[in-house]
Parts: sequence; structure tokens; C-alpha cells
Amino acid sequence: MAVISIAVGMVKYGFMDLIEALRLQVEWGADEALLDAVQDRRAARVAPAPAAAQAPAPVARAQAPRLAAALPGGVAQAEQLAAGCESLDALEKALAGFTGCALRDTATQLVFADGAADARLVVVGEAPGAEEDRAGRPFVGPAGQLLDKMLGSIGLERAKVRIINTVPWRPPGNRTPTEAEMAVCLPFLLRHIALVRPRCVLLLGAVAAKAVLPPPEREQGIRRLRGVWRQVKIPGLAAPLPCLPSYHPAYLLRTPMAKAEAWRDLLQLREFLELTSDKVESH
Ligand code: URA
Repeated sequence: MAVISIAVGMVKYGFMDLIEALRLQVEWGADEALLDAVQDRRAARVAPAPAAAQAPAPVARAQAPRLAAALPGGVAQAEQLAAGCESLDALEKALAGFTGCALRDTATQLVFADGAADARLVVVGEAPGAEEDRAGRPFVGPAGQLLDKMLGSIGLERAKVRIINTVPWRPPGNRTPTEAEMAVCLPFLLRHIALVRPRCVLLLGAVAAKAVLPPPEREQGIRRLRGVWRQVKIPGLAAPLPCLPSYHPAYLLRTPMAKAEAWRDLLQLREFLELTSDKVESH
């Protein structure tokens, strides 16, 4: 399999562990300093950001109508609370006091976020697991260690990105969050993204993609969604935000064959971040 070497990028970003990053590439199947398709990098620099070029027209998010019916009070209360938060601290306090999601009753503690409050990249995972529930921080277990390596391989330090989950409490037994749980936590997730105002979002796995993408994309499987930028309207942000779905690191741990595709997604992410430098506008 042909995959590009990232040595130059690593030097440019300066100090991620170069040897580690190269080892990761080899582990992921890189055997040539090439991408699968010919790249005209000069053209890429003058063209609009790849997200804008590839993505379908932005679609307004449906406010989970089916679920609003199932949880009328919860979703409406979450929307109102989240919309009133003008800072991440306020959002954390609001979530800590929010009783509209039953997951909080079985979890040890709230797992709010990790990383920079002004990050250029927000990473959205699924839900805290046992280790995250104990630590109160997202992605600290084996999937988190792989996530750190993945970010490092494209020159990103964990501390400089913002890491959150679709739900901030551990579902019992690590089960997938239900649609109702995701719906009631969604206003907080979207407000979190709006307050960070990143350049783009990496959606890790099917659950994160389902939570953040509007219909009809949210109905598609992650294998179809991954690797294609989607423009998503986020309340509070002036322009649609480029979101890139990819595989969840826990899936990659179970399915090493998928690492080559995940690596291609990371290269796209790196290129996008290289091409865009500013923060987005809020309104
Ligand atoms: N998996 C996730 O999706 N999130 C975490 O925080 C940990 C593992």
C-alpha cells in the first residue's frame, strides 16, 4: 500500500516524536513515500479549502423531532440551558447540574472534555468508558492512547485539540448511548463546539457521526461516511463547520485492516488544517 511519508510535516510541526510517527505509519501499512493518487500540492494551496470543494451543500439540522416527542422536557430544557451558556465553564456547570439524562445516575462523574479551550480541532468520540469514568477525562484508556498516536502522527498534540464525547457520562456496561440519550446531550455538544469555535471537527465512529451530522447523512454507516468532509450548521457559528467522519480508535484496535483508511483521513485532516489558519466567526 502506498502512503505518504510525513517526515517533512513532522519537522515542520516540530517535535512530535518523529520516530514514533514513522513507526505508526509502518504499522499502518505505509511502504512508499507516495499517496494512492497523484497530488498537485501547488494547486491545493490556491484552491478553496478541500472541505468547501467536496462537501455537499449545508443542510439545516433537524432538532431530533422523533426524540423530542419521546423526551419533550429533557431536550427542550437542554436546548435552553446550553444556549444560555456563554463560556465553557458555564457549560460545564450547566451539565453538572442537568438532570435530564439518566446516564448521570449510573456514572461516577461527569466527563466534560480535555484539551485546549481555543483548539483549532474538536474531536468527538462516542462516550466515556470505565477508565474515563474513573479519571473524569475523555479518551484515557487504550482507545485514547491510540488517539494520541493518531494525532501525533499528523503533528497534533492532544493538549492542543479539544476532545469531547456525544454523551458526557459513561453508559452502563459501556453500551452504546441510546438515541434519546444522544438527543438530550446534543444541545450541550453543539454548544461546546460553538464556544470553542474550531476550524473543523473530527467525528470518531458511527455514533459521533450520527450525533453531529444532519439527515440524511446521519442515517448512513461510518464506512460510507468516512473520509468525506461534511459542512454542518452549528447554532451560534456564522458559517457551516467542516466535519470529517472517520473510524473510532476502538474499532481500529479491533480491525487493523481499517487503519490504512483511517490514515488517509488523517492526511486529509492535516492538509485541511495546513490550508486554514484562522478561527471561525461566531454570531
Ligand atoms: N471512547 C470514546 O468514544 N470516548 C472516550 O472518552 C473513551 C473511549
